[in-house]
Amino acid sequence: MKAAVLGENGLEIRDVPAPKPKPDEILVRVRACGLNRAEVLMASGYRHGSQGGPGTIVGLEWSGEVVEAGAQVKDLKPGQRMSHEQASKVSRELMASWQRAHPGERWEMAQAQSPASESAATEAAPKAAAAPSQQVQGVPIEKPAQGQQQQGDTYASFHERDFKVWQTETQKFIEEGKRIFHSDKLLGGTIGVSCDMCHPDASNTHPETYPKYQVQLQRVALLRDMIDWCIENPVKGKTMDPNDERLRALEAYIIAQRKGVPLDYGKH
Ligand code: HEC
Repeated sequence: MKAAVLGENGLEIRDVPAPKPKPDEILVRVRACGLNRAEVLMASGYRHGSQGGPGTIVGLEWSGEVVEAGAQVKDLKPGQRMSHEQASKVSRELMASWQRAHPGERWEMAQAQSPASESAATEAAPKAAAAPSQQVQGVPIEKPAQGQQQQGDTYASFHERDFKVWQTETQKFIEEGKRIFHSDKLLGGTIGVSCDMCHPDASNTHPETYPKYQVQLQRVALLRDMIDWCIENPVKGKTMDPNDERLRALEAYIIAQRKGVPLDYGKH
């Protein structure tokens, strides 16, 4: 494995043998680490108590994943993720630091403007199915009047059943997006954080404001670009292929949550 080691002339990255955990120890694959103040001083040649001098491995402040646990270790297992509570704590801290950096910004913990709340969206399905007029997601569908149909017009052959199928399929896709939005595993996150922890019911996602210039990305972004940005940053996962079904479903869920809010692209 690689390690940051104190050499004669400061820090060096060297290959060193991987340690073997004792019965009451765990082995962690370090994903990120930093030097604390004492280590920075040690790198300049000072000692810190008994620590320091050439050959010392530094990097006490680290984060990573458990890859091996000694026989006596009870509460940590290889591959173990943070619990929902621990991950919520991390996302709260991330939000707190974002708010410190953006003191003027408001962050709502619920959908404020949306006339269609989440429960209203899910309730829309049975209501629409029972109603005599054709609706998809609560929106009436205008069928072309008989006389206006061209010869061989496919619209002529749609029945009530077709409209119901479309509506059910749309709702299923939105539900799938909701499931992914709430699951760190389906998002491919690595620290147990899911979107709902900071955006309950998709609040503050503002899909109606895209496309717009996004400072983080230094370009005009589509909704999917910001979804990807949050997957990479707070969720610590990999960005998704634009055709990834998960990304498409996330987009569907977020947009469905803002039904009725006027499209206002470019708005900040
Ligand atoms: C730790 C909290 C946190 C988590 C978790 C999180 N986000 Fe965000 N998200 C933010 C913050 C903060 C911003 C605003 C960034 C800015 O404008 O500087 C943001 C912005 C966004 C935006 C753009 C909003 C706008 O007004 O343009 C979208 C869309 C979004 N997030 C989607 C998601 C999705 C999807 C997930 C899950 C994959 C997610 N976020 C996870 C904190 C979070």
